[in-house]
Amino acid sequence: MNHDEVLPAAAGVPISYPDLQELGDLAKIFPRQAPLELEIGCGRGDFLLAYASLHPDVNYLGVERKLVIARRAASKLARAGLSNVRIIHGEISYLVDRYLPDHSLQAIHCYFPDPWPKKRHAKRRLFKEGTPELFARLLRPAGLVHVRTDVPGYFETICELFDSSRLYVRVGVPEELLGCLTGFERRFVAEGKPIFRVSYQLQPLSYTGEPDDLKNKVESADTGVKR
Ligand SMILES: C[S@@+](CC[C@H](N)C(=O)[O-])C[C@H]1O[C@@H](n2cnc3c(N)ncnc32)[C@H](O)[C@@H]1O
Repeated sequence: MNHDEVLPAAAGVPISYPDLQELGDLAKIFPRQAPLELEIGCGRGDFLLAYASLHPDVNYLGVERKLVIARRAASKLARAGLSNVRIIHGEISYLVDRYLPDHSLQAIHCYFPDPWPKKRHAKRRLFKEGTPELFARLLRPAGLVHVRTDVPGYFETICELFDSSRLYVRVGVPEELLGCLTGFERRFVAEGKPIFRVSYQLQPLSYTGEPDDLKNKVESADTGVKR
């Protein structure tokens, strides 16, 4: 598969891991290089639809493990004509392990992650011990993490994890993000359910790359995905 074959497919169909393997480079799924942001568990793509249209100079990647839902997101975004968003169908851990270069993201968005309320399922949660460190490896210097949930106990856990990691500082949720609702959020708002939102910024000293590497990353901050 070549670049030209992937782009039309991406414009309405989620990209699969075999597609990515053939391409060999995540950067090739976008028509142009730009800073990259990731939404984990993007559902039907409502957040990306709203937010990516505000920032045509940023590339957005949504990852969704349920195929039917990923298809809905991809076709919705294609109908809107957004060229800076791509949906990947699959497990986020696979993307992180195989395709996402370290320090390649300027922000990670995770909205209404599955709470896995039973104690014996807690290991399946996205936010658990080690998650702040993993995100720090993926983020560029001063990168941001934005989280929303409707589950108070999970919110507390998420805040404790990030507050205690010392890698991050808690920052205000950017105003423009508040206006970009997800599908679940729209429903919760209509039901009058409380929603908990938080944002963290990677502290400059938390960057875990080499000093020269840091210099390169900062100098090329607007060139997007690097491998
Ligand atoms: C509760 S829904 C929220 C969807 C969307 N963020 C929203 O707010 O409307 C959680 C979504 O994350 C997806 N998901 C959960 N774990 C995932 C994983 N490990 N990799 C990729 N997607 C995942 C689920 O399939 C589901 O669509």
